[in-house]
Amino acid sequence: MAGKHYVRSFGCQMNAYDSARIAEVLAHANGTQTAARPEDADVIVFNTCSVREKAQEKVFADLGRVRQLKRANPALMIAVGGCVASQEGEAIVRRAPYVDVVFGPQTLHRLPELLAARRASGRAQVDISFPEIEKFDRLPQPRADSPAAFVSIMEGCSKYCTFCVVPYTRGPEVSRPFEDVIGEVAALAAQGVREVTLLGQNVNAWRGAIDGRPADFAELLRYVADLEDIERIRYTTSHPREFSQRLIDAHAALGKLATHVHLPVQSGSDRVLAAMKRGYTALEYRSIARRLRRAQPGLSLSTDFIVGFPGESDADFEATLKLVAEVGFDDAFAFVYSARRGTPAAEFPDVTPPQVKAERLQRLQAALAPRAQAISAAMVGSVQRVLVEGRSARLAHELCGRTANNRVVNFGGAAGLAGRFAHVRITAALAHSLRGELVHAHE
Ligand code: SAM
Ligand code: F3S
Repeated sequence: MAGKHYVRSFGCQMNAYDSARIAEVLAHANGTQTAARPEDADVIVFNTCSVREKAQEKVFADLGRVRQLKRANPALMIAVGGCVASQEGEAIVRRAPYVDVVFGPQTLHRLPELLAARRASGRAQVDISFPEIEKFDRLPQPRADSPAAFVSIMEGCSKYCTFCVVPYTRGPEVSRPFEDVIGEVAALAAQGVREVTLLGQNVNAWRGAIDGRPADFAELLRYVADLEDIERIRYTTSHPREFSQRLIDAHAALGKLATHVHLPVQSGSDRVLAAMKRGYTALEYRSIARRLRRAQPGLSLSTDFIVGFPGESDADFEATLKLVAEVGFDDAFAFVYSARRGTPAAEFPDVTPPQVKAERLQRLQAALAPRAQAISAAMVGSVQRVLVEGRSARLAHELCGRTANNRVVNFGGAAGLAGRFAHVRITAALAHSLRGELVHAHE
């Protein structure tokens, strides 16, 4: 049955990746095409996020809106996937009876069958199981639509930080086999991909077997770097607890590794880190940052913070500000703690008033902002190696690409440069991007 699908993505990069796979699965199974607007679609998919309460509530608000479309067109199918689906399951259909299919992050490949079963039976279908790695065996080969591509190398998380729903919604850590990962990267390279981002909730927890021997993430990186057409490698998200010396050594040895690592720290207080069950101290985190920068000079670090975790005192928060000053983060996501049902921290006594939490968030953001701006400003005048991804989103006559330290650069140049690396001189640092001028393009 041909028609159109519309996939709306909420949340993290894993979800963005899964949304692209959902669209491919539907196109492959049913021959449907992407609709530009939900109004034009026969199947609407919400790929949801439940990491914070706000994201979760947004899903129900948006679902309420597509309900009108279903009234006008009863044949319209509405499917809800992702972490809210995984956590709520049947409860979604009870709260929103016009939803036809509920599926989890590990069952997205079954969506066409679930839709068919819904049509045949007239009953809503719910499948939020964790059938391990079956998902990847059943997905169509990904098609590259940009010279920079994402490849998922592991699923789920087994760290069980006390605040986080991900281990419950995405299941335990499962690594994709080495051959599958390398095969997918090589297939993408053959389609013109030059930069790959290896994806996972904890990418550096990847474990596999190479030629019958146990292998870790550092070794996987070496094999990816051996693929000639792959010129730049990124990975996200890594976890400090899995940041081995071998991985740090890989940063010294592999020139293809980008000079940017996203390494969530969450707090600078050891007391809070222990209550979060993060498995490292602030000193250990600083040691990783120092060794990484020694291994790869110029490396920029971005991170995630949670403020207002239950029991966080003024002194704990000051320790976070101290860590910010010591590490010098380039860019960070800072969130106010959001209690998630089913997680241990949701049961912890939380006496900090909301306005104190909001004020801490503001102070933290104020401490973080100047550093990101200073790094951008210091890049003005330098020549950067940029992978040209295509036309700029806002300035149609310009090209756009990313520097090794993950900054977007817009600059003038011929459209034919897309997919190639170029040397670009940085001429101005704006709030969220850089401007530049082409020096020369690579073959
Ligand atoms: N795997 C990553 C790591 O190593 O920390 C994080 C995954 S989580 C989906 C992304 C970020 O959301 C976390 O780093 C954390 O800062 C934030 N987050 C997770 N649970 C949260 C909660 N209950 N309240 C506020 N922020 C939360
Ligand atoms: Fe969540 Fe901690 Fe895993 S933040 S995704 S439980 S590493």
